[in-house]
Amino acid sequence: MQESFYKDSIVLLEGVISEITARLEVIRKYKIIHNDRDPIEYVKTRIKSEESMKEKLKRKNLPVNLETALTKIYDAAGIRIICAYIDDVYAVVEMLKTYKDLTVLEEKDYIKNPKPNGYRSYHIVFQTLLDIAGEKHPVNVEIQIRTIAMDFWASLEHQMKYKKSIQNQEMIVEELKRCADEIATTDLNMQTIRNMINGKEE
Ligand code: GTP
Ligand code: MG
Repeated sequence: MQESFYKDSIVLLEGVISEITARLEVIRKYKIIHNDRDPIEYVKTRIKSEESMKEKLKRKNLPVNLETALTKIYDAAGIRIICAYIDDVYAVVEMLKTYKDLTVLEEKDYIKNPKPNGYRSYHIVFQTLLDIAGEKHPVNVEIQIRTIAMDFWASLEHQMKYKKSIQNQEMIVEELKRCADEIATTDLNMQTIRNMINGKEE
């Protein structure tokens, strides 16, 4: 049970997730009603399990306690926003940054600078003050924004990481890297074609 590790703070983690997802829902509905493009395909959320939080604290040589989990690790609350096109990813980033009550703590563009294994995504960590009956509580949330294709790749790569022993590991890593690069090319091509269809490029 998450509640046992996060104690009362589970309310803050759930709170920040529901506040941000509610905003996203409103924006999406507003855009649709105004015949504007909705840049989001879908949104997934999660609270980091006790087990993986403890593992991450140990891996980073941090004390395994709640205080550290909430302040030194930024992804106890996580939101993943999946878009169809690369331009949508950046549009969502800009949209999120318009909120004056969300302070950027960390920002990593793994689309412009992919990880060596081929991982691509835009990561942004926000801190916000959750207002609960007049009391302001700081809480961090990690938002990952990526295309459908990047998400497809990341879920398969994630499965590999969590398998203890795999045969042909080296070959699989290589193949995944190759797929990541193909996906990046396809994402760019899809964007270009869409722009052409919409008359944005000749
Ligand atoms: P950890 O990677 O969790 O130690 O955190 P970090 O501080 O290095 O942050 P980073 O932005 O690199 O990654 C945070 C999160 O992004 C991870 O918890 C994953 O959800 C995702 N992520 C990062 N790298 C990879 C990757 O190579 N493969 C997959 N599938 N997901 C990744
Ligand atoms: Mg990392």
